[in-house]
Amino acid sequence: MSDKIVITAALPYANGDIHIGHLLEYIQTDIFVRFQKLIGKDALYICASDMHGTPIEINAKKVGVSPEKFVEKYWKEHQKDFASFLINFDNFHKTHSTENKELAIYFFNELKKKGHIYQKKIPVIYCEHDQRSLPDRLVRGTCPHCKTVDQYGDICENCNSALKGLDLIDPRCIMCGNSPVEKESEHYFFKLGSFSNKLKKWIKSANIQPEIKNWLDGWLKKGLDDWCISRDAPYFGFEIPDAKKETGEKKYFYVWLDAPIGYISSTKNYCDKKKIDWKDYWYKGKSYHIIGKDIVYFHFLFWPAMLLGVGIPLPDLTVHGFITVDGQKMSKSRGTFFTAKEFLKLFPAEALRFYYASHLDRKVVDVDLQFTDFQAVNNNVLTGNLGNFCYRVLTFAEKNYGKITKVADESNKDKLFSEIKTSYEQLDFKTAVKNILAIADLGNAYFQKAEPWKNNEEAEAAVGWCVNLAKNLAIVVSPILPEFSEKVFKALSLKKTGWDDLDFKWKGKLKKVEKLVEKIEKIPEEEQFPLQMMVGEIVEVKDHPNADSLYLLNVDFGNVKKQVVAGLKKYKKPEELLKQKAVFCVNLKPAKLRGEKSEAMILVADDEKDVALLQHAKAKKGDEVKFGELVNSSKEITFDDFLKLKMVVKKGKIVYDGKVLNVHKHEISVSGVKEGSRVR
Ligand code: MSP
Ligand code: ZN
Repeated sequence: MSDKIVITAALPYANGDIHIGHLLEYIQTDIFVRFQKLIGKDALYICASDMHGTPIEINAKKVGVSPEKFVEKYWKEHQKDFASFLINFDNFHKTHSTENKELAIYFFNELKKKGHIYQKKIPVIYCEHDQRSLPDRLVRGTCPHCKTVDQYGDICENCNSALKGLDLIDPRCIMCGNSPVEKESEHYFFKLGSFSNKLKKWIKSANIQPEIKNWLDGWLKKGLDDWCISRDAPYFGFEIPDAKKETGEKKYFYVWLDAPIGYISSTKNYCDKKKIDWKDYWYKGKSYHIIGKDIVYFHFLFWPAMLLGVGIPLPDLTVHGFITVDGQKMSKSRGTFFTAKEFLKLFPAEALRFYYASHLDRKVVDVDLQFTDFQAVNNNVLTGNLGNFCYRVLTFAEKNYGKITKVADESNKDKLFSEIKTSYEQLDFKTAVKNILAIADLGNAYFQKAEPWKNNEEAEAAVGWCVNLAKNLAIVVSPILPEFSEKVFKALSLKKTGWDDLDFKWKGKLKKVEKLVEKIEKIPEEEQFPLQMMVGEIVEVKDHPNADSLYLLNVDFGNVKKQVVAGLKKYKKPEELLKQKAVFCVNLKPAKLRGEKSEAMILVADDEKDVALLQHAKAKKGDEVKFGELVNSSKEITFDDFLKLKMVVKKGKIVYDGKVLNVHKHEISVSGVKEGSRVR
């Protein structure tokens, strides 16, 4: 086997911004590639934009540009985002390319020739309203296997089963919400089932994570269905040659047929430019794929079967979990969704690389980005330990000696370094980081003990040893922190360094070292609810002098009294309001309503016929009212923003984003208004 290896991360859809969830994978892969290069392998980091499929076609239409233009924009944008996180592809190509078209057709023809592809008439879902057949991504319904509601027709997010749109229970068109009808259409199928035995054999012997092996065993036990690899027009993808002749209609390759082929076609694109042969990588070398847990079915069953069908050696695969933020799925409404750009405005790229590296091993578990933890890891570990040692030693040596001429003869750290190498090889970056930090600790203790600032005899040689240790640390951490390492190398005037340069032989002139790492001072604040809600007692009810439907309330909040204009005359008599304790919003922008100032707003559940005050027997004037544990914001809010909040009555409780309104944990109940009533 040659030293040639190609390493890929999944091809991101050219259909939206790169976010910190994606970055986990591209950083993980980048670290692995940089490590392989460091130990002297001819490794390529290959990726591309995944440009085909229905969502892209639909989204391009929405913004009124051609799909070609739409994907081109993201192709450029994504490369910038990746580069800003020091993710260093050897090639970032496109699936909508001539290379990929040729190879997709090659795969298709080859598999067809060998009898692995056949045609069959199947019922398809057709939306009469939108006048198109609905690919799996355009229908949502209930998963037939685990019964989770609201799943796309291609895969269930809960049980990860691959689906066909028609499998869904109660399918609906995602564009218009109508129930679609069934139609017949002739399609191409790949005989996945006939690869079962070969796949089983491979799965047994391959280096596959145990969690994934379990999933695969389950799927294989159930039996593999043949796979529909064509789609009806309109579709953004490659037209299948001869389809019109063979089926009477134009057909296109399903995006997941040509997407993984993009791994090869991007390699080919790179090799053609360099005038080398891509086959040296894919046939004679070794390929690695790193992917997320959501696309396991495609990469462990369909793709290997296709490769087996055309005789290309199978890859080595590693699966990672998903990024959650502060324990929750990333979500825009909760403020836990960060694009690469947004994140980089707040923090340095290497802080994220280091954080991800310290959490990644080869287990398929989700990685939680906790901001307080993130700050602590950056400030106490990266900066306080590793950064501090290297910076302190290099600065001290440069200031006091200017050059290193003597290096103390200390016990070798070879074993520690070789352990780090093994960890990297096994994609256990967590352990690699742990060992790197242990070495830095050792270095810090050694430097401290040598007390070079006391100008003792052996100090210079001891510092020489520390400088060499800093160099070695920079080498072994370079896959994770390429810029950090580069700055250390610059101070030592070192150009290209590899794993072979791990030694204690460096002597020479030192340059002033640049700042290596930065402390993180501020992290995003915890999620807040935009209303400040408080219990107030209505101590006076008067008619508004200028408006028939309005009252003027005088409300006591314990420390302050406020005047509140309330449109409740239609619903409540003054005596029904007087002396009542109810919930008010006290941070609304003060307004004058028909000439009377309103300094707070009474919150009521309202079904347009009846209203209910928000009350609890145990509530006292001035008590804070919250949704779940959500902290109330005291920042002023406009009425327009207030109207956007979706607070509704569910089973007699007031609910916002799944959280129940309460005063000191006593849930507030309402009656007399309909289920689903809004609070306003
Ligand atoms: N286009 C397909 C892959 C085709 S590969 C032949 C795709 N694209 S994607 O943009 O949706 O995702 C790209 C990669 O990012 C996937 O491996 C996916 O698992 C990963 N991630 C997307 N969101 C993620 C998180 N929140 N956390 C971790 N990884 C995530 O799938
Ligand atoms: Zn429709």
